[in-house]
Amino acid sequence: MAHARCDQSPVWAELRAHFERSGQALDLREAFAADVARFESWSLQAPEVFADLSKNLIDGTTLALLLQLARDCGVEAQREAMFSGAIVNSTEGRAVLHTALRAPAGEGPFSDEVQEALDRMLAFAEGVRDAAASGIRDIVHIGIGGSDLGPAMVVGALQSASDTYCQPAQRLHFVSNVDGHDLASVLPGLDPHKTLFVIASKTFTTQETLANALAARAWFLQQGGQDIARHFVATSSNVQAAAQFGISTTFGFWDWVGGRYSLWSVIGLPIAIAIGARNFRALLAGAHAMDQHFREQPLARNLPVLLGLLDVWYRNFHGFSSRCIAPYHQGLKRLPAYLQQLEMESNGKGVDGEGQALPYGSSPVIWGEPGTNGQHAFFQMLHQGTDVIPVEFIAVRQPEHGSHVTGELADLLHQQHRMLLANCLAQSQALMQGKTVEQALQEKAPAAASHLGALTLARHRSFPGNRPSTTLLLERLTPRALGALIALYEHRVFVSGALWGINSFDQWGVELGKALCKALLPRLDSGDTAGLDGSTAGLMNWLRRS
Ligand code: F6P
Repeated sequence: MAHARCDQSPVWAELRAHFERSGQALDLREAFAADVARFESWSLQAPEVFADLSKNLIDGTTLALLLQLARDCGVEAQREAMFSGAIVNSTEGRAVLHTALRAPAGEGPFSDEVQEALDRMLAFAEGVRDAAASGIRDIVHIGIGGSDLGPAMVVGALQSASDTYCQPAQRLHFVSNVDGHDLASVLPGLDPHKTLFVIASKTFTTQETLANALAARAWFLQQGGQDIARHFVATSSNVQAAAQFGISTTFGFWDWVGGRYSLWSVIGLPIAIAIGARNFRALLAGAHAMDQHFREQPLARNLPVLLGLLDVWYRNFHGFSSRCIAPYHQGLKRLPAYLQQLEMESNGKGVDGEGQALPYGSSPVIWGEPGTNGQHAFFQMLHQGTDVIPVEFIAVRQPEHGSHVTGELADLLHQQHRMLLANCLAQSQALMQGKTVEQALQEKAPAAASHLGALTLARHRSFPGNRPSTTLLLERLTPRALGALIALYEHRVFVSGALWGINSFDQWGVELGKALCKALLPRLDSGDTAGLDGSTAGLMNWLRRS
């Protein structure tokens, strides 16, 4: 389906002119001073997620133009095409229907198949969770990319509340790297008779996953394990390949579920084992609530649309090439890694749907760490570095530290949560507010640096400010809220991809390295460097030296 690419819309030139005229000079401090209602105008409550966009470098004119751009690029039609099951992933000839996985029974495409697969997976998960009956104490999940990051991130997030959603009696381990240190670090202490291995691979051809699965099977047999059928299951759309591997229980899914959008499918099995069927359904329901918001709300009050438009504004007009994700919740420590795949594998493309080179930047670099840890590492650069990097703060109002936290400890940890929230607010405030040289001059300078002179020191101690950020707030980190948050990001990536004219659902960029690795592997054994470039040959010789 051909849609206008963002630069083909007449609004593109208008946006450029607006940027040069006033957009680039927007000063957040002045904007707040001029408009007492700026926070109210630029914040909104979406399902489970409250968003404050007011500290972004945007005004009414920018928004009006960006909304027109979205209409010109057919964002609404493209959204409907995705939800209704059209072949929107053109280079792989596939529909893109992860939203169908979280639609209530009877709604959405393929509902019967979806519900049947979900019921079967959840029944199995409940059986495993019954530790007394299943005898399973450890679950080792082996997968990579979309078959790892989503499940690992969600389990980590919901386990952070200890026993609120997860049962601590069972331990979940995630192994992804082909580096044997990953698996080797997990195996000690496992009892093969009490361990379930879940081999997760959509294609069941992924080198890393198959290598780890083979090694896990070897360990299992070496340790006296016998019943492979009971201790190894697979989640895959390639049921045949899983069977060839010797796995008799495979939870299958469909090619219209992209790898990085697959945590809602049977790839979510470890999540279901960790949090149980009821909570897994709540995760799906939260995502569905965000799907409805995205599908039904007018563009101007549609959070994924607004975030996607901001992404284009920052990337293509301000020229910001990265975005920092700062979750102020330890449970969300893997969120930046998860979002790296979601966003950079989806929109890190250089050609449009017709294969034409993009004349503008696409996906920014996505990176981050949880607050407050990041504050003591890279926030220096965010505040005073030469690059402007929009920051996304994510915080949760009510903590859940688990039922073992009582008495004085509970009070202390609650107090720490207030510190966490105060830090979160302070960082976005500092980024925006900055500190002038004059203000710095009025502060008491450290005596140890007095030889530098007051003005020099004040320059070191000043902050430019006017650095943009978005703050997303959740009431609690529940399965439902997490589902909504993830779906928000999925749709925001869809919106920016639609504007850039990108196919956000393929990933050809990972193929070349895979093919070259396949060719190099036997050469690493044989030492044959014939025809290799000098660097690769030199590195190979160094690695092979005796
Ligand atoms: O890195 C490429 C990729 O294909 C991802 O898109 C995918 O999530 C990952 O590999 C794992 O693929 P599979 O689930 O088929 O093992």
